[in-house]
Amino acid sequence: MRDEARFAFLDLAPGEESFRDGVLHGLSGSRKAIPCKFFYDERGSALFERICGLPEYYLTRTEIAILEENADEITAQMGAYSRIIEFGSGASHKARILLQALDRPIAYVAVDISREHLREAAAALAEDFPEVAIIAVCADYTSAFASPSLPGPTGKRVGFFPGSTIGNFEPETVLRFLANCAHILGPGGEMVIGVDLKKDSRILEAAYNDRAGVTALFNLNLFERINRELDGDLDLDFFEHFAFYSESKGRIEIYIRSLADQQATIAGRRFNFAAGELIHTEYSYKYSVAEFRELAAGAGFRPVDTWTDPRELFSIHYFRLR
Ligand code: AVJ
Repeated sequence: MRDEARFAFLDLAPGEESFRDGVLHGLSGSRKAIPCKFFYDERGSALFERICGLPEYYLTRTEIAILEENADEITAQMGAYSRIIEFGSGASHKARILLQALDRPIAYVAVDISREHLREAAAALAEDFPEVAIIAVCADYTSAFASPSLPGPTGKRVGFFPGSTIGNFEPETVLRFLANCAHILGPGGEMVIGVDLKKDSRILEAAYNDRAGVTALFNLNLFERINRELDGDLDLDFFEHFAFYSESKGRIEIYIRSLADQQATIAGRRFNFAAGELIHTEYSYKYSVAEFRELAAGAGFRPVDTWTDPRELFSIHYFRLR
């Protein structure tokens, strides 16, 4: 047993949109869709971990390699005594790379919606970085939340949003999210954002259609979750994973496709699915460096630097607020 390391925990009791409401609403329209945030139940999170290790899914390992390769330059930009706020911190694996390379960081704020995982990650960080104030904030970072006051007075406030999670947002939502970050960081705030790059569609499509079929399991887990939690009777033998890259939209589009005319009952309601009908589950937008800089400029962020891997698969942007 290890000693309880100390960290602050701020519970903003995020008003979680219930899975039930999201599913019933999403399946009721003419164009069926389920928000991708519902992928991440216990099983979905474990499947995503497996995706990150797949040979075709270059994103995670490439971003970590860029962070490790350029940690000195990135952290030099942040300077001494910085305060870092990560949005959607998960296990904080990537933040550790920065914390290890930083010059006397003052504080690390981990914002995540998953209360117990957040608590565990913060406890482990507090133990490994005793000189850094670790502050866990349980909140939905996609909506505006009050930032805790940070130990100061010196040092920059730097937002950290890795993983190309920003690719899940539609461009208008990216702007709203970045404007909210700007509000939290305040004048002079900075932001480090991981963004998946546009590239040969064969590489992109392979990353979302892996040979081992883990992405298919991850996607279809949404329907299994409906059966488990909402008393559903969706027949998983008659639905399949479908993902492709749209060149014109610059995004991977992910759907569950119905393989037959069929009906299902979910939470006591009947739903019809036509053969070939697509139920939308996720977008994953890809940006060139120039495109993403232009988008961020709309929220007042000016480019400071950008790092990529030698194959130009993935990018890490560094921005400063005007
Ligand atoms: C976690 C949103 C970055 O878009 O690549 C992986 C999620 N979906 N495989 C991505 C995901 C299917 C992932 N993000």
